[in-house]
Amino acid sequence: MISLLYGFVYDGQIKEHELFGDIMAEDTANSFLNDFAQTKQGNDTIFSCWARYQEAIAQGHDAVNGTIGALLENDGSLAINQTVDKFVRNSPPIEIAAYAPLKGLPDFLDLAVTLALGDAREELENIGVHHTATASPGGSGALFLAAANYADRGSKVLLRDRHWGPYDGFLAGCGLEIATYPLLGASSGLDLPALEAGLGNLAQSQSKVMSWLNDPAHNPTGLSLTSEERMSVLRAFSNAAMEHEDVGFTLLIDAAYHVYAREPHGWAETLTDALHDGMEWPANLLLTFAISLSKSHTVYGLRGGALVSIHPDNSVVERITTVMGVTGRQTWSASSRLAQYSIAKIHSDSESGAAWSDEKVRMTEILKQRRDLFIATCQKLKVPINPTHDGFFAWLEHEDPNGIVDSCALEQVYLVPLNGGVRIGLCAIPTDKIERVAVSLSNALKE
Ligand SMILES: Cc1ncc(COP(=O)(O)O)c(C=O)c1O
Repeated sequence: MISLLYGFVYDGQIKEHELFGDIMAEDTANSFLNDFAQTKQGNDTIFSCWARYQEAIAQGHDAVNGTIGALLENDGSLAINQTVDKFVRNSPPIEIAAYAPLKGLPDFLDLAVTLALGDAREELENIGVHHTATASPGGSGALFLAAANYADRGSKVLLRDRHWGPYDGFLAGCGLEIATYPLLGASSGLDLPALEAGLGNLAQSQSKVMSWLNDPAHNPTGLSLTSEERMSVLRAFSNAAMEHEDVGFTLLIDAAYHVYAREPHGWAETLTDALHDGMEWPANLLLTFAISLSKSHTVYGLRGGALVSIHPDNSVVERITTVMGVTGRQTWSASSRLAQYSIAKIHSDSESGAAWSDEKVRMTEILKQRRDLFIATCQKLKVPINPTHDGFFAWLEHEDPNGIVDSCALEQVYLVPLNGGVRIGLCAIPTDKIERVAVSLSNALKE
């Protein structure tokens, strides 16, 4: 019996009713479930692919796991930042047992701002940018806080067409719909015209326009925008805000993987540059960061994160502090004190902060080796993968992702079919199996 992430327990057998649901039981259950609840389908694609991989291992196959979204060492064990593990284990009993303050522990909230803004924080503060942070259960909690408060129910949130699947559920749960623009434009980078058009269109009919951008190190592609592209995005938002003065615009940067990227704090740096270059920050534009400790500190199960919002007007961030605190209170009460305490403690001391960073650099290097090898082999075999730069994943755009994934599975390579393509979990694949994954994709494409 193997238990890994999310307490998903696999006993070696995939039972039909677990994957497809028992239709009869569903009819009865629907008499209790409201309309929205009835739209919720189990069988998370990623976890069922992972179960398929486990089944292959149980049958004795030399299978490759490219399914899950957690960093695994080359021996297949979960990569754990040892400094974090030590600090969590050595936390005093009171920090484990007690509630955290509803909005979060002050030292952690301060750290969350630094995790969002990096070294640019001081300069942004100097030029009058104010910030607020609210602790949340993971990055998911931070996304929920934004969904619950920064858009009107019934309105649309602007996403790129390739995005992390759970976004759809967080937004739907808050009564929100989705509008999308393409992940890539003609020159294989940001599709700026589509972003501008998307913002303009929504602003015609909505009084609030929010857009979520998972950058750098996008899930599911590993794409990171360049500094020029970040600048174009910021200008697109500030132009849209100036053109539509009665509309509130929120740009949310989902920073779930940012510490593993080459420019972890690129957004804060680009913002600083833009403000120095004379970009005006319209009062109706808000920037917000969804911070997750899950990957950055390898504490997936401790559920640590924060929503950090920044704006030039202090009264705006003060009001947001109240609203987010009340939302947390009414949803999950307080967030995990242990996660907040232990991670803040690590970064309060330069020695332990450096030890955390050394481990993080080691993990980033593992990801880089796998990605470089994957890109090189795909180039050699002419596998047309998407641009991929940082973080946990790579992506093959394809109109029949299920066909590709099934074909790879015949060669004992397990990947994830998602809307519009195949996600390759470089984070989970041992470096010496990377070439095999590229070969199996190449074979699948020939069929
Ligand atoms: C794109 C993205 N955003 C946010 C999260 C949130 O992670 P968590 O809630 O575990 O912190 C994840 C986790 O997989 C993710 O992939």
